[in-house]
Amino acid sequence: MACHDKQPDDLIFFVNGKKVIERQADPEELLLYYLRKELRLSGTKYGCGVGGCGACTVMLSTYDPVAKKIRHHPANSCLLPICSLHGAAVTTVEGVGSIKKRINPIQERLAKCHGSQCGFCTPGMVMSIYALVRNHVKPSMEQIISALDGNLCRCTGYRPIIDSYASFAKEQTCCQLRGTGQCCLDQEELGCSSSAGVRIRSGLCNPAEFLPVDPTQEFIFPPELMRMAQEQQKKTLTFCSKRTTWISPSSLKELLELKAKYPKAPLVVGNTSLGLNKNDHDAYHPIILHPLRIPEMQVVSITDDGIVIGAACCLAQLRDILMETIPKLPNEKTKIYQALLQQLRTLAGEQIRSMASLGGHIVSRGSAWDLNPILSAGKSVLSLASNGGKRQIFLNDQFLAGHKHADIEPKEVIVSVLIPYSTKDEFISAFRQADRQKNAFSVVNAGLRVLFSPGTDTIVDLSILYGGIGSTTLSARKSCEKLIGRQWDDQMLSEACKLVLEEISLPPSASGGKVEYRRTLLVSFLFRFYLEVLHGLHQMVRTGQELHISISREAARNFWYAELSQDKMSALGMLQSGVPQGVQVYQDVDRGQSPQDPVGRPIMHQSGIKHTTGEAVYIDDIRPVDGELSLAVVTSIKAHAKIKSIDISEALQVPGVINVVTAKDVPGKNGNDEEEAFAKDKVICVGQIICAVVAETLTQAKCGAKKVKIVYEDLQPVLAIKVTMHLLFLDAIKHNSYITEERKLEKGDIEKGFKSADKIIEGELHMGGQEHFYLETNSVVVIPRMEDKEMDVYVSTQHATEVQKLVASALNLQSNKVMCHTKRVGGAFGGKITKPSFFAVIAAVAANKTGRPVRFALERDMDMLITGGRHPFFGKYKVGFMKNGRIMAADFQCYINGGCTKDESELVIEYIVLKVDNAYNIPNLRVRGHACKTNLPSNTAFRGFGFPQAGLFVETCIVAVATKTGLPHEKVREINMYKGVNRTAFEEEFDAENLWKCWKECLVKSDYHSRNAKVEEFNKKNYWKKKGIAIISMKFSVGFNATYFHQAGALVHIYLDGSVLVTHGGIELGQGIHTKMLQIASHELKIPLSYIHFCETSSTTVPNGKYTAGSVGTEINARAVQDACQILWKRLDPIRRKNPKGKWEDWISEAHKKSISLSATGYFKGYETNMNWETKKGHAFPYFLYGAACSEVEIDCLTGAHKNIRTDIVMDASFSINPAIDIGQIEGAFIQGVGLYTLEEIYFSPEGEQLTLSPDTYKIPAVCDIPEQFHVYLLPNSCNSIAIYSSKGVGEAGFFLGSSVFFAIRDAVAAVRKERGLPLDFTLNSPLTVERIRMACDDIFTKMIPKDKPGTYKPWAIDIS
Ligand SMILES: Cc1cc2nc3c(=O)[nH]c(=O)nc-3n(C[C@H](O)[C@H](O)[C@H](O)COP(=O)(O)OP(=O)(O)OC[C@H]3O[C@@H](n4cnc5c(N)ncnc54)[C@H](O)[C@@H]3O)c2cc1C
Ligand code: FES
Ligand code: FES
Repeated sequence: MACHDKQPDDLIFFVNGKKVIERQADPEELLLYYLRKELRLSGTKYGCGVGGCGACTVMLSTYDPVAKKIRHHPANSCLLPICSLHGAAVTTVEGVGSIKKRINPIQERLAKCHGSQCGFCTPGMVMSIYALVRNHVKPSMEQIISALDGNLCRCTGYRPIIDSYASFAKEQTCCQLRGTGQCCLDQEELGCSSSAGVRIRSGLCNPAEFLPVDPTQEFIFPPELMRMAQEQQKKTLTFCSKRTTWISPSSLKELLELKAKYPKAPLVVGNTSLGLNKNDHDAYHPIILHPLRIPEMQVVSITDDGIVIGAACCLAQLRDILMETIPKLPNEKTKIYQALLQQLRTLAGEQIRSMASLGGHIVSRGSAWDLNPILSAGKSVLSLASNGGKRQIFLNDQFLAGHKHADIEPKEVIVSVLIPYSTKDEFISAFRQADRQKNAFSVVNAGLRVLFSPGTDTIVDLSILYGGIGSTTLSARKSCEKLIGRQWDDQMLSEACKLVLEEISLPPSASGGKVEYRRTLLVSFLFRFYLEVLHGLHQMVRTGQELHISISREAARNFWYAELSQDKMSALGMLQSGVPQGVQVYQDVDRGQSPQDPVGRPIMHQSGIKHTTGEAVYIDDIRPVDGELSLAVVTSIKAHAKIKSIDISEALQVPGVINVVTAKDVPGKNGNDEEEAFAKDKVICVGQIICAVVAETLTQAKCGAKKVKIVYEDLQPVLAIKVTMHLLFLDAIKHNSYITEERKLEKGDIEKGFKSADKIIEGELHMGGQEHFYLETNSVVVIPRMEDKEMDVYVSTQHATEVQKLVASALNLQSNKVMCHTKRVGGAFGGKITKPSFFAVIAAVAANKTGRPVRFALERDMDMLITGGRHPFFGKYKVGFMKNGRIMAADFQCYINGGCTKDESELVIEYIVLKVDNAYNIPNLRVRGHACKTNLPSNTAFRGFGFPQAGLFVETCIVAVATKTGLPHEKVREINMYKGVNRTAFEEEFDAENLWKCWKECLVKSDYHSRNAKVEEFNKKNYWKKKGIAIISMKFSVGFNATYFHQAGALVHIYLDGSVLVTHGGIELGQGIHTKMLQIASHELKIPLSYIHFCETSSTTVPNGKYTAGSVGTEINARAVQDACQILWKRLDPIRRKNPKGKWEDWISEAHKKSISLSATGYFKGYETNMNWETKKGHAFPYFLYGAACSEVEIDCLTGAHKNIRTDIVMDASFSINPAIDIGQIEGAFIQGVGLYTLEEIYFSPEGEQLTLSPDTYKIPAVCDIPEQFHVYLLPNSCNSIAIYSSKGVGEAGFFLGSSVFFAIRDAVAAVRKERGLPLDFTLNSPLTVERIRMACDDIFTKMIPKDKPGTYKPWAIDIS
């Protein structure tokens, strides 16, 4: 069937209560793009396009005419074909509530609890919880957490999001000091040693102000859709485009006929497997079958043999059925169900679980799919049907391997799956280990089952299946056969491990890397299963005896299993994070402060409500303008090569393509002195932009880009700082490939220092880089104006001035013709300082060439491919110290991998050299820093700007000293910490008083010493799980080492109605800069916040702004705003004095009559700073900020998983202008730091191509990664005479404190190694991923696996640090 023989049906669905009729529905169109482009509902965001981030979440409601029930569930609209929506009601964030109509309590509470920063993830968060609350009016906290599994936030650290939704939970969580019996509202804490004379407050929002939940506010399910569902039960639906036809049959018979006619046609249910290939425009399906309305495929029945589930049921339904059924059945019958449930709890996010079907899961047979191993081990049976009849096959290893005789035929479909009951003598377990606890594909998973001869432990049947090793699930069938008849004992285990490792082999070059880790997991899981079964046997015999059932006395005597020892018991069970709880404590404003004055109070983000309603506009939300074109780029596939030719002829033939733009089309300068916008003759990294295709639509532009042919001539690339094995690329150190000259600092007399030391140690640290992973990808819209070659550039950037400069120079224009506008940025973290200018140049050159507006919004994979991130780091140290831990001398060599151009690398290496001392006074110190030039995408600024690398490096030295001396780590830290008034290596004077205050306060607040003792106690009892605790201190230098970086401008207008418009040069990145500006204007002008508005950052109102970064963006712009407001206030002086009792409006009207200007510019010259690299002295930074953090973790020695138990942070934020914003920054930065140090890993191929290009492969922290207890205290009674209102910039400082988790994990690993008699002077490189943790816990299993000699194979990925 094709549509030309039949009129296509009208696609009918509802969006936010409004009926949508699509007469020409395109089966390839996905809901996200349809909502944004066709319906102009831009609240639903694009974050990744592959179901991994949750930014695109909507709620789907469908009516089941048979069950007469409405089902609501969350869904990732980026994977949802619109044709699957016939008869459904879609709710987007706009439908939940809006400022125009009425906001929903879900939106209001999230905003009031400060749960949004940049706001880009926020609509998705709202939708996930909205869908939950539609199904469960009072959900449990566990359900709330689980509903957020599939939503990523890069800004907040999740704590405020969870807090805001806790107010909907069944459990009464009245406030943040849960469990203390005290309410957080208006509570003055008992205080701390530094809080004398000030009021201390906890909690950042007031639940008493929350709107009550009003069910009448929700849309009712459209009755028309109910009628349609009834009437169209028997109707076949067909939708078609030029190349694809979508058919939704109404009966199984019809489906089977269609499948017979179109055997190659896929059955699309969730589209979560098939939909992932959508980027390949050429790979399409002429016919798609949609079997969702077929009753047999939706069946759920409990039979004598087990549970039968329709193949079209989604995984969330399967979970719910299992949860409902398990308690009703005897335990022995439910072992497979329990194992499945365990996998379903961590599999993907709730959106994917609600879309993905069981049948799709089984048939697509992904390597790491979690249910297939267990379904197969549990002997599940597939009911198949074709127009030739029905049959049943086992879902066994041969089916999974795709053996022809055991597989489903092209004409067949799976109708349902029988998941049988387990029996008394059977044990079944499932395991999975992923890079992140939740919403991450398994690295390895397993399904294991053993059947014993009744009343014995003799193996009758055994199944061992693994995922994540081959291209699909693999079975250790031969090993299992050999073990039949064996007793369940230690000998059997050793034999099993040996056999499995022989049978399931993983080549050293295997895709996905982590080869030794994966091999270790094979046997680690086997061991855990062995123990689980032993434990189960013991339980069974005991229960059998106690209940006098089934097992005879005789049998019980012969078959006695002692309870596992505590050591072995500790191997059982996975680490699972509990419901996180937080405490935030800060100094309150003075009692005398006017209630109207917002400074010092936790004011909600100025755009908070707009974030939650989706009304906040980001670049790609700007409505298309007339004639607008889309742009896609062609990037280099070579790390280093000459460009021999570029052939664009085929691309120009693609329908819709308007033009191809190359370096030749740049009328002015092609980039800047360091970097080309379009590569001209040579490429210097994979991902470098060579040319751009502009077309009527993005699909056409992408299609055109694929057709551009480039011929390269290979040159040898430099990829790593230092290589340890011989590969095809070079390393920077050996080949003297540097971006800048060495940066060096010296203090004291290093040689003398080493001579005086009792001991000297040497070591190295490697640290990986980090992706910014801002939720909003780089985006720019360029609109040429009609006159004078003017251009409007709407751009997501931290540095509008640079965009303006580069665009003007590329187009040979004066800067006064280029108007840059940025309303807000959906996260940046340093990643949008340099690169957006180049993206803007690309779009502007295209706009210039075509004379039409151009939109360039990068897709996630392109953004990750093209842009660099945090610099990978390699450090070598030599440290001399005394027996008491005092460091006498240190010699540090620091290297960063800068990538292919200079970018910010020079500054980053300078900061590493300047900041590497952290909190420690090393009397004799030499630091040398090098920025390496390699053929990787250029690395750039990232929150903390070198300090996260430098800090981890020096802390590693501290730990090395503590290990060598055998002293407690905190003692070594204390003995080396700066005390009193001191000087840094570059002779900057500072007072360490607050460093010590934070440290001491943190020791007390975290109860460090007694918890440390408890950790030791735990570790003595648990062999396979260990806890670790670490406390670290921090001296963080704020700002830049040159005055002009700190200059800022502002423009404040007062209008005749008294309203005030504030503009300044800073950009809103989520850090709440505008909110604080409004607070400052309100304070200075003594008017309520409601009078003041901020519109946008624009080069037309405040010129020459510096980049918003370095933690100082807010305070320097604040000084400019203050300046402008004070000028205005002064101008109003005579009027006020004349009419002191008058209102603000009266004064303004009078001022106007008196011809007093009501507009003023404000300016801040900048903090005096300087650094002289000749003399190696300077006042490099405006001021220091201090902090301390204590973290406790638990690790699973068998898998490398870890859980963050508790973190306490004490931060010297001085007087916080807005404690909600500042604490939000600390928490968010901390969690981003936890990401850098424990989770986030970028992989590059030996050819220099980045392999981690989506949230599927690159894991940023999710809700499951935050500490179960997360406490933040702002140090009271602290002053800072330098910054406005005695505040401090806290945007970056919290980041490094994330390393307390790194060192807590190291502590736990050290406990493992100590117990096993392994060397304790081991080095752990960063990030401490599951792989690194597991492999550091050396044991019989890591020793058992085959090892490959480095250099004898080509690895899948290389180490570039
Ligand atoms: C972001 C994300 C995260 C994920 N995380 C995990 C995870 O952690 N663990 C995990 O195990 N999986 C994970 N998955 C994979 C997920 O489980 C599968 O994609 C899903 O189960 C496939 O189901 P579907 O209905 O979406 O299949 P579709 O994409 O709709 O179809 C897949 C294939 O199955 C065929 N098919 C579907 N139904 C039938 C049938 N009844 N008879 C015959 N053929 C049929 C189709 O023809 C098609 O070829 C994840 C997926 C995504 C996108
Ligand atoms: S955009 Fe859909 S999940 Fe990321
Ligand atoms: S607020 Fe969540 S990504 Fe920015």
